[in-house]
This record gives sequence, C-alpha cells and structure tokens, in this order.
Amino acid sequence: MALVTTKDMFAKAIKSDYAVGAFNVNNMEIIQGIVDAAVEENAPLILQVSAGARKYAKPVYLMKLVEAAIEDTGLDIALHLDHGEDFEICKKCVDDGFTSVMIDGSRLPLKENIELTKRVVDYAHSKGVVVEAELGRLAGVEDNVSVDERSATFTDPEEAAEFVEKTGVDSLAIAIGTSHGAYKFKGDPYLDFERLEKIQELIPDTPLVLHGASTVLPEFVERCNNYGGKIAGAQGVPEEMLRKATKYNICKINIDTDLRLAMTAEVRRYLAENPSEFDPRKYLGPAREAIKAMVQHKIKNVLNASGKR
Ligand code: G3H
Ligand code: 13P
Ligand code: ZN
Repeated sequence: MALVTTKDMFAKAIKSDYAVGAFNVNNMEIIQGIVDAAVEENAPLILQVSAGARKYAKPVYLMKLVEAAIEDTGLDIALHLDHGEDFEICKKCVDDGFTSVMIDGSRLPLKENIELTKRVVDYAHSKGVVVEAELGRLAGVEDNVSVDERSATFTDPEEAAEFVEKTGVDSLAIAIGTSHGAYKFKGDPYLDFERLEKIQELIPDTPLVLHGASTVLPEFVERCNNYGGKIAGAQGVPEEMLRKATKYNICKINIDTDLRLAMTAEVRRYLAENPSEFDPRKYLGPAREAIKAMVQHKIKNVLNASGKR
C-alpha cells in the first residue's frame, strides 16, 4: 500500500479493455466514498486534485487525507494534479509528493504547448513523477456552434504524434467531443471514435485520457430537482460510449461532475425530508454512501476495472 505513479496502472490498462477511474477530490467524505468503492471492487485508483480543490481545502489537508485513505484501506493510490496551468503549480505538486501531474497547455499554440510540457516533463521525470498533457480543446456547449466547427477544436492525430515525440509525455488527454461540467451536448451526444482510432494508430504506446467524462446520471439530476434544485438541460456522456472508449487506448477516465451531483442530490434529499436536522454528519453520511455506490457502479459497469488492481 502506497502512493504510486500511474505507470504500472496504464501499462496494464493499455493492453486490456478497461480504464482507470480518476476522481476529483475536495474533502474527506468524497475521498472516503471513492476509496471504499475501489476497495470493494479491488480496482486501481487515481485521486485527482485541481487548483481550485487545493485552494478550497489547502494542499496539506488533501495530502494527509489521501495518506489516511491509503493507511486505512491498504490501497495503492495515484495522486494526480488535474489541469495544472503552469510550470510552477506542477513543480509545487511534484515537490509536495504527488505521483502524477497534468500540465494543461491546451490553450496554447502547439509549439508553446510542447515547450511548456517538455519543461514539466524534464522536471517531473527527474523526481520520478509522471506527466499528463492535453492537446485539443474541450469545448463546452455553445449556441450556434455546428458539429464541424466544434470538431475543428478536436485533437489532430498528426499533431498528437509530434507532441508525444517532442515532449516525452507519459499520457495524453485528447479532445474527441467531451467537455467539462453537466451540459456536454445539445441534441444527440457525439464522440469522434474515428479520430480516436487514428490517434491510437499513430501513438499506439501512449496511454490516452478522457476528460469531461461524467455521464450526468439522470437519477441524481432528478433527485436534485425533486428536492428544490434547478438543473435544466443537463446531459453527459452516455455509459455505452464510455464503455466503447475503454476498448481503445483510453486508460484514464476523469469524473468530477457525477460526484458533485451524487453528493448534492443526497444532501438536498436528506435536508428536505428532515428539515429539523442540523447535524452535518446526518446529511454528509448519506452523501458519502451515494458517492460510494455511484463510483462502484462506474468501476464495475462502465470502466470494467473491477479486480484489475
Ligand atoms: O476539470 C475540472 C474539474 O472538474 C475540477 O473542477 O476546477 O472546479 O475544481 P474545479
Ligand atoms: P466532468 O466534468 O465530466 O466530470 O469531467 C471532469 C474532468 O475532466 C476533470 O479533469
Ligand atoms: Zn478535465
């Protein structure tokens, strides 16, 4: 049991039809719900922390909570920085003991993204830490943007090959139609599997990462709305598309929105049904249970990662 890098996890996953779940964490209940699910499913696990999560919880609390989770459960866990925007935050996380960092230079022109990523790779590798980078843009749903316009922001396979060769990055996040948050598609969901296939042909040894991969489970959206929420028009990536993605070289699937929805749905339900309660443990307990059940479902029925530890 230890903090581990994703190297061995991805080496196994790339050869097989499953993906490792990467779940965003901000507090104790979220961490506990996720790790308890991974224990039950005997699954590999990545916990990831965004800049916003570091700001919210303070880095030291998150690190100690993850260490506590390892000690409590005996799991191997990879601790990953999600969407590091510059060299400095990546360096800080490497120095703090993260085992994996993401440098997200996807907003930059190719050459600058390569330069920035290479700088992070050189530093991280010198300390035994692995690096994820991103190429292509994860556009959100916007009005008046056609499918063609949207796909112009997707990852270009030839650029991906050049990028991996020049940076030596360990894994690559690609844009094939997913986006962050609860509003991913207007109309029918669409992922560009042909593009994924082309990318995989050109860089067959590079583990690929799918961001923005929450399903936005209707059960939680409905529960939020039934208990006072106002979440309209939310739509995520259908589970069958994610299952299909695991059959390619997608080795890491990122999930945050589904955790937020599960937690909020249960807190809303509990407080609405028990208006005189004010002990946080009473509503955070069921929220933690909802997260555990949801993550277990993902690991087992979507990621196909049960027993793959
Ligand atoms: O990709 C973004 C993740 O969902 C983290 O979101 O920056 O609000 O913590 P955040
Ligand atoms: P979702 O918003 O779809 O959960 O994506 C999370 C993510 O990609 C974190 O990096
Ligand atoms: Zn992301």
